[in-house]
Amino acid sequence: MHSSRFRSFAAKAIGVVLMTATLSTQAQSQKIVIAHRGASGYLPEHTLQAKAMAFAMGADYIEQDVVMTSDDHLIVLHDITLDRTTDVAERFPDRVREDGRYYAIDFTLAEIRQLQASEGFRIENGEKVQSYDNRFPMGESIFGVPTLAEEIELIQGMNKSTGKNVGIYPEIKGPEFHREAGKDISTAVVRMLKSYGYTSKQDKVFLQTFSFEELKIIHDEILPAVGIDINLVQLIDRVSSNPWMFEEDGMNKLSTFADGIGPDKGLVVSRDSQKANIQVSDLVTRAHAAGLQVHPYTYRLDPGQVPAYADSYEDLLELHYFRANVDGVFTDFPDRAVDFLRNR
Ligand code: G3P
Ligand code: CA
Repeated sequence: MHSSRFRSFAAKAIGVVLMTATLSTQAQSQKIVIAHRGASGYLPEHTLQAKAMAFAMGADYIEQDVVMTSDDHLIVLHDITLDRTTDVAERFPDRVREDGRYYAIDFTLAEIRQLQASEGFRIENGEKVQSYDNRFPMGESIFGVPTLAEEIELIQGMNKSTGKNVGIYPEIKGPEFHREAGKDISTAVVRMLKSYGYTSKQDKVFLQTFSFEELKIIHDEILPAVGIDINLVQLIDRVSSNPWMFEEDGMNKLSTFADGIGPDKGLVVSRDSQKANIQVSDLVTRAHAAGLQVHPYTYRLDPGQVPAYADSYEDLLELHYFRANVDGVFTDFPDRAVDFLRNR
Protein backbone atom coordinates (compact mmCIF):
# COMPACT_ATOMS: atom_id res chain seq x y z
CA MET A 1 0.00 0.00 0.00
CA HIS A 2 1.22 3.51 -0.85
CA SER A 3 2.61 5.11 2.32
CA SER A 4 0.19 8.11 2.33
CA ARG A 5 -2.81 5.80 1.70
CA PHE A 6 -1.51 3.50 4.45
CA ARG A 7 -1.27 6.49 6.86
CA SER A 8 -4.85 7.49 5.93
CA PHE A 9 -6.09 3.89 6.39
CA ALA A 10 -4.22 3.58 9.71
CA ALA A 11 -5.62 6.92 10.95
CA LYS A 12 -9.17 5.82 10.10
CA ALA A 13 -8.64 2.44 11.77
CA ILE A 14 -7.27 4.09 14.90
CA GLY A 15 -10.22 6.50 14.80
CA VAL A 16 -12.68 3.60 14.68
CA VAL A 17 -10.89 1.88 17.56
CA LEU A 18 -10.84 5.09 19.61
CA MET A 19 -14.50 5.79 18.83
CA THR A 20 -15.45 2.25 19.82
CA ALA A 21 -13.43 2.60 23.01
CA THR A 22 -15.07 5.95 23.76
CA LEU A 23 -18.56 4.57 23.16
CA SER A 24 -17.74 1.55 25.28
CA THR A 25 -16.44 3.79 28.09
CA GLN A 26 -19.53 5.99 27.81
CA ALA A 27 -21.82 2.97 27.98
CA GLN A 28 -20.02 1.66 31.04
CA SER A 29 -19.64 5.08 32.64
CA GLN A 30 -23.43 5.28 32.81
CA LYS A 31 -23.27 2.50 35.36
CA ILE A 32 -22.82 3.99 38.78
CA VAL A 33 -21.30 3.18 42.15
CA ILE A 34 -23.25 4.17 45.27
CA ALA A 35 -21.23 4.21 48.48
CA HIS A 36 -23.51 2.39 50.94
CA ARG A 37 -23.39 4.32 54.23
CA GLY A 38 -20.10 5.76 52.85
CA ALA A 39 -16.97 3.66 52.48
CA SER A 40 -18.43 1.61 55.32
CA GLY A 41 -16.21 -1.39 54.64
CA TYR A 42 -13.27 0.68 55.85
CA LEU A 43 -14.58 3.24 58.37
CA PRO A 44 -17.61 3.28 60.70
CA GLU A 45 -20.85 3.58 58.70
CA HIS A 46 -22.42 7.01 58.24
CA THR A 47 -19.52 8.95 59.77
CA LEU A 48 -18.21 11.97 57.91
CA GLN A 49 -14.86 10.20 57.66
CA ALA A 50 -16.50 7.28 55.81
CA LYS A 51 -18.18 9.76 53.46
CA ALA A 52 -14.93 11.63 52.70
CA MET A 53 -13.22 8.32 51.98
CA ALA A 54 -16.02 7.25 49.62
CA PHE A 55 -15.72 10.59 47.82
CA ALA A 56 -11.96 10.17 47.41
CA MET A 57 -12.45 6.60 46.14
CA GLY A 58 -14.50 7.88 43.21
CA ALA A 59 -18.05 6.89 44.18
CA ASP A 60 -20.71 8.51 41.97
CA TYR A 61 -23.23 8.82 44.80
CA ILE A 62 -22.92 8.66 48.58
CA GLU A 63 -25.82 7.31 50.65
CA GLN A 64 -27.44 8.90 53.72
CA ASP A 65 -30.00 7.06 55.85
CA VAL A 66 -31.97 9.76 57.68
CA VAL A 67 -33.85 9.84 61.01
CA MET A 68 -35.12 12.71 63.19
CA THR A 69 -34.19 13.85 66.70
CA SER A 70 -36.69 14.92 69.39
CA ASP A 71 -36.00 18.56 68.47
CA ASP A 72 -36.62 17.93 64.75
CA HIS A 73 -33.05 17.83 63.47
CA LEU A 74 -32.27 15.43 60.63
CA ILE A 75 -29.38 13.12 61.41
CA VAL A 76 -27.61 10.50 59.32
CA LEU A 77 -28.15 7.13 61.00
CA HIS A 78 -29.18 3.75 59.62
CA ASP A 79 -31.36 2.58 62.51
CA ILE A 80 -34.13 4.53 64.25
CA THR A 81 -32.23 3.45 67.38
CA LEU A 82 -28.78 4.53 68.50
CA ASP A 83 -27.56 1.46 70.36
CA ARG A 84 -26.00 -0.60 67.51
CA THR A 85 -23.55 2.10 66.40
CA THR A 86 -22.97 4.45 69.37
CA ASP A 87 -22.10 4.41 73.07
CA VAL A 88 -25.57 5.70 74.04
CA ALA A 89 -26.10 2.86 76.56
CA GLU A 90 -23.07 3.99 78.58
CA ARG A 91 -23.72 7.73 78.32
CA PHE A 92 -27.51 7.78 78.83
CA PRO A 93 -28.37 4.47 80.59
CA ASP A 94 -31.66 5.77 82.02
CA ARG A 95 -33.03 6.73 78.59
CA VAL A 96 -33.66 3.14 77.50
CA ARG A 97 -37.24 2.21 76.49
CA GLU A 98 -39.01 -0.89 77.78
CA ASP A 99 -37.88 -2.84 74.73
CA GLY A 100 -34.24 -2.26 75.71
CA ARG A 101 -33.56 0.15 72.83
CA TYR A 102 -32.47 3.79 72.71
CA TYR A 103 -34.46 5.70 70.08
CA ALA A 104 -32.90 8.66 68.30
CA ILE A 105 -36.27 10.38 68.43
CA ASP A 106 -36.02 10.50 72.26
CA PHE A 107 -32.79 12.54 72.14
CA THR A 108 -32.01 16.14 71.28
CA LEU A 109 -29.30 16.92 68.77
CA ALA A 110 -27.19 18.35 71.62
CA GLU A 111 -27.39 14.98 73.37
CA ILE A 112 -26.60 13.03 70.21
CA ARG A 113 -23.54 15.21 69.72
CA GLN A 114 -22.20 13.79 73.02
CA LEU A 115 -22.20 10.25 71.60
CA GLN A 116 -19.30 8.44 70.00
CA ALA A 117 -20.08 6.43 66.88
CA SER A 118 -18.34 3.16 66.07
CA GLU A 119 -18.48 0.08 63.90
CA GLY A 120 -21.77 -1.73 64.34
CA PHE A 121 -21.86 -4.25 67.18
CA ARG A 122 -24.16 -6.63 69.07
CA ILE A 123 -24.13 -7.55 72.75
CA GLU A 124 -23.17 -11.12 73.61
CA ASN A 125 -22.90 -12.20 77.26
CA GLY A 126 -22.79 -8.54 78.23
CA GLU A 127 -19.89 -7.80 75.86
CA LYS A 128 -19.84 -5.73 72.67
CA VAL A 129 -19.04 -7.91 69.66
CA GLN A 130 -18.21 -6.14 66.39
CA SER A 131 -20.54 -7.27 63.58
CA TYR A 132 -17.81 -7.34 60.90
CA ASP A 133 -14.68 -8.19 62.86
CA ASN A 134 -12.37 -7.56 59.89
CA ARG A 135 -13.48 -3.91 59.66
CA PHE A 136 -12.29 -0.75 61.45
CA PRO A 137 -11.64 -1.59 65.13
CA MET A 138 -14.39 -0.62 67.57
CA GLY A 139 -13.39 1.92 70.20
CA GLU A 140 -10.43 3.30 68.21
CA SER A 141 -10.12 6.99 67.26
CA ILE A 142 -13.17 9.23 67.51
CA PHE A 143 -16.32 9.51 65.39
CA GLY A 144 -19.71 11.19 65.72
CA VAL A 145 -23.22 11.09 64.30
CA PRO A 146 -23.51 13.81 61.62
CA THR A 147 -26.54 15.85 60.69
CA LEU A 148 -27.85 15.64 57.13
CA ALA A 149 -26.91 19.30 56.64
CA GLU A 150 -23.32 18.69 57.76
CA GLU A 151 -23.01 15.77 55.38
CA ILE A 152 -24.46 17.61 52.39
CA GLU A 153 -22.10 20.52 53.11
CA LEU A 154 -19.16 18.09 53.26
CA ILE A 155 -20.03 16.54 49.89
CA GLN A 156 -20.85 19.87 48.22
CA GLY A 157 -17.64 21.36 49.69
CA MET A 158 -15.56 18.52 48.24
CA ASN A 159 -17.39 18.90 44.93
CA LYS A 160 -16.27 22.54 44.88
CA SER A 161 -12.67 21.89 45.94
CA THR A 162 -12.18 18.96 43.53
CA GLY A 163 -14.35 20.06 40.60
CA LYS A 164 -16.32 16.81 40.83
CA ASN A 165 -20.09 16.41 41.01
CA VAL A 166 -20.69 13.52 43.39
CA GLY A 167 -24.35 12.95 44.16
CA ILE A 168 -26.29 12.22 47.33
CA TYR A 169 -28.72 9.36 47.91
CA PRO A 170 -30.81 9.97 51.08
CA GLU A 171 -33.24 7.36 52.44
CA ILE A 172 -36.23 8.23 54.61
CA LYS A 173 -36.00 5.78 57.52
CA GLY A 174 -39.13 4.72 59.38
CA PRO A 175 -41.54 7.24 57.82
CA GLU A 176 -44.59 5.69 59.54
CA PHE A 177 -42.71 5.54 62.86
CA HIS A 178 -41.94 9.26 62.55
CA ARG A 179 -45.52 10.13 61.55
CA GLU A 180 -46.88 8.24 64.57
CA ALA A 181 -44.58 10.42 66.70
CA GLY A 182 -46.00 13.54 65.01
CA LYS A 183 -43.02 14.14 62.75
CA ASP A 184 -43.17 14.58 58.96
CA ILE A 185 -39.62 13.51 58.20
CA SER A 186 -40.14 13.42 54.43
CA THR A 187 -41.21 17.06 54.21
CA ALA A 188 -38.23 18.05 56.35
CA VAL A 189 -35.83 16.14 54.09
CA VAL A 190 -37.37 17.49 50.87
CA ARG A 191 -37.20 21.06 52.20
CA MET A 192 -33.57 20.56 53.14
CA LEU A 193 -32.73 19.17 49.70
CA LYS A 194 -34.33 22.23 48.13
CA SER A 195 -32.38 24.57 50.44
CA TYR A 196 -29.14 22.93 49.21
CA GLY A 197 -30.07 23.33 45.55
CA TYR A 198 -31.44 19.89 44.69
CA THR A 199 -34.59 20.84 42.81
CA SER A 200 -34.84 18.89 39.53
CA LYS A 201 -34.31 15.45 38.05
CA GLN A 202 -31.09 16.76 36.50
CA ASP A 203 -29.62 17.33 39.98
CA LYS A 204 -27.54 14.50 41.40
CA VAL A 205 -29.90 13.21 44.03
CA PHE A 206 -32.04 10.10 44.41
CA LEU A 207 -34.51 10.10 47.32
CA GLN A 208 -35.28 6.53 48.43
CA THR A 209 -37.68 4.74 50.75
CA PHE A 210 -38.93 1.20 51.37
CA SER A 211 -42.45 2.52 52.01
CA PHE A 212 -44.58 2.73 48.86
CA GLU A 213 -47.20 4.69 50.81
CA GLU A 214 -44.56 7.28 51.70
CA LEU A 215 -43.16 7.35 48.16
CA LYS A 216 -46.67 8.13 46.91
CA ILE A 217 -47.09 10.93 49.46
CA ILE A 218 -43.69 12.36 48.51
CA HIS A 219 -44.53 12.21 44.79
CA ASP A 220 -48.16 13.38 44.95
CA GLU A 221 -48.06 15.88 47.80
CA ILE A 222 -44.68 16.84 49.25
CA LEU A 223 -42.68 17.52 46.08
CA PRO A 224 -45.45 19.69 44.53
CA ALA A 225 -45.98 21.53 47.84
CA VAL A 226 -42.26 22.26 48.25
CA GLY A 227 -41.98 23.05 44.53
CA ILE A 228 -39.26 20.64 43.41
CA ASP A 229 -39.18 17.53 41.18
CA ILE A 230 -36.33 15.14 42.00
CA ASN A 231 -35.58 11.48 41.27
CA LEU A 232 -37.37 8.98 43.52
CA VAL A 233 -36.39 5.38 44.18
CA GLN A 234 -38.59 2.60 45.56
CA LEU A 235 -36.60 0.13 47.65
CA ILE A 236 -37.82 -3.45 47.32
CA ASP A 237 -37.38 -6.65 49.25
CA ARG A 238 -39.24 -9.93 49.31
CA VAL A 239 -40.43 -9.56 52.91
CA SER A 240 -41.80 -6.03 53.29
CA SER A 241 -42.69 -4.93 49.74
CA ASN A 242 -46.25 -4.98 48.40
CA PRO A 243 -46.83 -8.24 46.42
CA TRP A 244 -48.19 -6.31 43.39
CA MET A 245 -44.68 -4.98 42.72
CA PHE A 246 -43.63 -8.49 41.65
CA GLU A 247 -46.58 -8.96 39.31
CA GLU A 248 -46.34 -8.57 35.52
CA ASP A 249 -47.31 -4.87 35.48
CA GLY A 250 -45.81 -4.02 38.88
CA MET A 251 -42.94 -1.98 37.45
CA ASN A 252 -45.30 -0.07 35.15
CA LYS A 253 -47.48 0.85 38.12
CA LEU A 254 -44.42 1.93 40.07
CA SER A 255 -43.11 4.09 37.23
CA THR A 256 -45.98 6.52 37.83
CA PHE A 257 -44.28 7.47 41.08
CA ALA A 258 -40.62 6.43 40.87
CA ASP A 259 -37.62 6.91 38.62
CA GLY A 260 -35.86 3.81 39.83
CA ILE A 261 -35.95 0.78 42.07
CA GLY A 262 -33.47 -0.39 44.69
CA PRO A 263 -34.03 -4.13 45.03
CA ASP A 264 -32.33 -6.60 47.31
CA LYS A 265 -29.66 -8.10 45.02
CA GLY A 266 -31.19 -11.55 45.55
CA LEU A 267 -34.20 -10.36 43.56
CA VAL A 268 -31.92 -9.71 40.57
CA VAL A 269 -29.80 -12.87 40.66
CA SER A 270 -31.38 -15.64 42.70
CA ARG A 271 -29.51 -16.72 45.81
CA ASP A 272 -30.22 -20.29 44.64
CA SER A 273 -27.94 -19.71 41.64
CA GLN A 274 -24.93 -21.92 41.12
CA LYS A 275 -21.80 -21.17 39.13
CA ALA A 276 -23.07 -23.34 36.27
CA ASN A 277 -26.62 -22.07 36.59
CA ILE A 278 -26.88 -18.31 37.18
CA GLN A 279 -30.54 -17.46 37.58
CA VAL A 280 -31.19 -13.87 36.47
CA SER A 281 -34.75 -12.78 37.20
CA ASP A 282 -36.80 -10.67 34.78
CA LEU A 283 -36.95 -7.79 37.28
CA VAL A 284 -34.32 -5.63 35.55
CA THR A 285 -35.87 -6.20 32.12
CA ARG A 286 -39.32 -5.30 33.41
CA ALA A 287 -37.99 -2.25 35.27
CA HIS A 288 -36.06 -0.99 32.23
CA ALA A 289 -39.11 -1.52 30.00
CA ALA A 290 -41.03 0.71 32.41
CA GLY A 291 -38.28 3.36 32.26
CA LEU A 292 -36.96 2.65 35.75
CA GLN A 293 -33.28 2.56 36.72
CA VAL A 294 -32.17 -0.38 38.87
CA HIS A 295 -29.76 0.05 41.81
CA PRO A 296 -29.64 -3.15 43.93
CA TYR A 297 -28.12 -3.47 47.41
CA THR A 298 -25.78 -4.45 49.12
CA TYR A 299 -22.47 -5.69 47.68
CA ARG A 300 -19.85 -6.63 50.28
CA LEU A 301 -16.58 -8.52 50.21
CA ASP A 302 -16.28 -9.40 53.90
CA PRO A 303 -15.85 -13.13 54.63
CA GLY A 304 -19.05 -14.97 53.74
CA GLN A 305 -20.64 -12.00 51.98
CA VAL A 306 -19.92 -12.95 48.35
CA PRO A 307 -22.61 -15.46 47.30
CA ALA A 308 -21.33 -18.96 46.51
CA TYR A 309 -22.38 -18.62 42.85
CA ALA A 310 -19.70 -15.93 42.31
CA ASP A 311 -15.95 -16.59 42.24
CA SER A 312 -15.10 -13.22 43.79
CA TYR A 313 -16.49 -9.77 44.57
CA GLU A 314 -15.50 -8.68 41.04
CA ASP A 315 -17.20 -11.74 39.53
CA LEU A 316 -20.31 -10.81 41.52
CA LEU A 317 -20.14 -7.29 40.07
CA GLU A 318 -19.65 -8.70 36.56
CA LEU A 319 -22.75 -10.88 36.91
CA HIS A 320 -24.93 -8.08 38.27
CA TYR A 321 -23.68 -5.06 36.27
CA PHE A 322 -23.35 -6.88 32.93
CA ARG A 323 -25.19 -10.24 32.93
CA ALA A 324 -28.21 -8.83 34.78
CA ASN A 325 -27.62 -5.29 33.41
CA VAL A 326 -28.25 -3.26 36.57
CA ASP A 327 -27.51 0.47 36.37
CA GLY A 328 -25.69 0.84 39.68
CA VAL A 329 -24.96 -0.93 42.94
CA PHE A 330 -24.93 0.01 46.60
CA THR A 331 -21.63 -1.22 48.02
CA ASP A 332 -19.65 -0.92 51.25
CA PHE A 333 -16.47 -1.15 49.14
CA PRO A 334 -16.82 1.59 46.51
CA ASP A 335 -13.13 1.59 45.56
CA ARG A 336 -13.34 -1.98 44.28
CA ALA A 337 -16.49 -1.27 42.26
CA VAL A 338 -14.99 1.92 40.78
CA ASP A 339 -11.84 -0.01 39.80
CA PHE A 340 -13.93 -2.82 38.37
CA LEU A 341 -15.88 -0.49 36.06
CA ARG A 342 -12.75 1.43 35.03
CA ASN A 343 -10.77 -1.71 34.20
CA ARG A 344 -13.44 -3.69 32.44
O1 G3P B 1 -31.01 1.92 50.72
C1 G3P B 1 -30.38 0.88 50.07
C2 G3P B 1 -29.94 -0.04 51.12
O2 G3P B 1 -29.19 0.74 52.00
C3 G3P B 1 -31.11 -0.63 51.82
O3 G3P B 1 -30.74 -1.31 52.91
O4 G3P B 1 -30.98 -1.50 55.30
O5 G3P B 1 -28.83 -0.75 54.35
O6 G3P B 1 -30.77 0.78 54.38
P1 G3P B 1 -30.31 -0.64 54.29
CA1 CA C 1 -30.22 2.66 53.03
